[in-house]
Amino acid sequence: MKTETLTVELAERRYPIYFTAAKDALKTDLAALRSGGRRVQVISDARVLHAHPNYLAQAGFEDSEILSLPAGEPTKSLQYFSQSLSALANQSANRDCALFAFGGGVIGDLAGFVAASYLRGIDFYQIPTTLLAMVDSSVGGKTGINLPEGKNLVGAFWQPKAVYIDTALLETLPPREFAAGLAEVIKYGLLADSELLENLFALDGLAADSPELPAIVRRCCAIKAQVVAEDETETAQADGRALLNLGHTFAHAIENVAGYGEYLHGEAVGIGLSLATRLSVALGQLPENEIARVDQVVRQFQLPTQLRAPLRVGDLMAAMQRDKKNRGGRLRFVTMEELGNAVTTDGVDTKLIESLWRDAGAS
Ligand code: NAD
Ligand code: GLY
Repeated sequence: MKTETLTVELAERRYPIYFTAAKDALKTDLAALRSGGRRVQVISDARVLHAHPNYLAQAGFEDSEILSLPAGEPTKSLQYFSQSLSALANQSANRDCALFAFGGGVIGDLAGFVAASYLRGIDFYQIPTTLLAMVDSSVGGKTGINLPEGKNLVGAFWQPKAVYIDTALLETLPPREFAAGLAEVIKYGLLADSELLENLFALDGLAADSPELPAIVRRCCAIKAQVVAEDETETAQADGRALLNLGHTFAHAIENVAGYGEYLHGEAVGIGLSLATRLSVALGQLPENEIARVDQVVRQFQLPTQLRAPLRVGDLMAAMQRDKKNRGGRLRFVTMEELGNAVTTDGVDTKLIESLWRDAGAS
């Protein structure tokens, strides 16, 4: 089967995202690394390895090359960052070691930061296994870990050398995790592609074996690749890569205050997308009826638009103050001027945000 590829164009270099026949491409690249005398290492999690016990072996990896970490958001931490670095050091891995992430966004973000840090940087490859990782986190080079004080507070931009997207891996993904990935898909529609959004409205549902899925994944990757090509390290004064954070200022605060793992990232993003829409309406950027439309599409894919249990408004506001998008001590949000067209908005009144939190069920 011919491999379908998308290229992420960066200032310094470019890299491929493989779609169909991604496993063949992985096999070929791994063989090339080995024939060049390169050592390889995989970081994965126990649940992924249990769901796909033969995938890595079929691609040519050996068991001794796989580091298995616990599944879940708490693994994106200093503890497992340190453990992963030590594992490389204990094997005397050199600069020419190539590190592969086989997992969802947690493993990809952690392994990418390990690759960025070990010996000041080694080659990194992504094999995403969740929908969220396929449409978002495996592309674009944002890597990092959480601190108890906040989400993704430590990290580096470290682009992969290649991304291998094999949607067949999603057949074992629990429905709740699949839905969480759809939150990022809806995000792309809301921020950049009204046609994608209309396609989502028209769907009854979406599953790993839906015929529509591969094209949706490719479309999301294409949007992300374009945004990243234009503003790789999120330095644009306005808009730029920050737009990919639509809904995330709210979502990261929810994850931090509720405790990592309490809400799946995509579930928090679902609530965040609803809140970002309400904010856009309150700022006069969107007509009021768009709130119902956005809430409908979020709920249509089994995602929440309200907090499951009250969180304290003060705690949520404090978490938002640590958001990386803030400038000059002022909160910065991503809002929408129409569905399919997002912008960055500064100087939002904190009282307005507090009242939005209360509407979403905070106390
Ligand atoms: P995850 O990595 O925790 O994976 C979700 C769960 O599914 C885990 O329990 C995992 O073991 C399991 N799993 C993964 N693949 C499976 C499969 N094929 N079959 C069965 N089980 C499988 O979570 P996630 O939603 O993929 O990623 C969330 C993380 O991604 C968050 O930390 C978020 O901050 C980060 N993120 C990063 C970026 C970025 O640009 N770097 C973008 C969006 C999100
Ligand atoms: N997920 C946000 C970004 O990659 O910039």
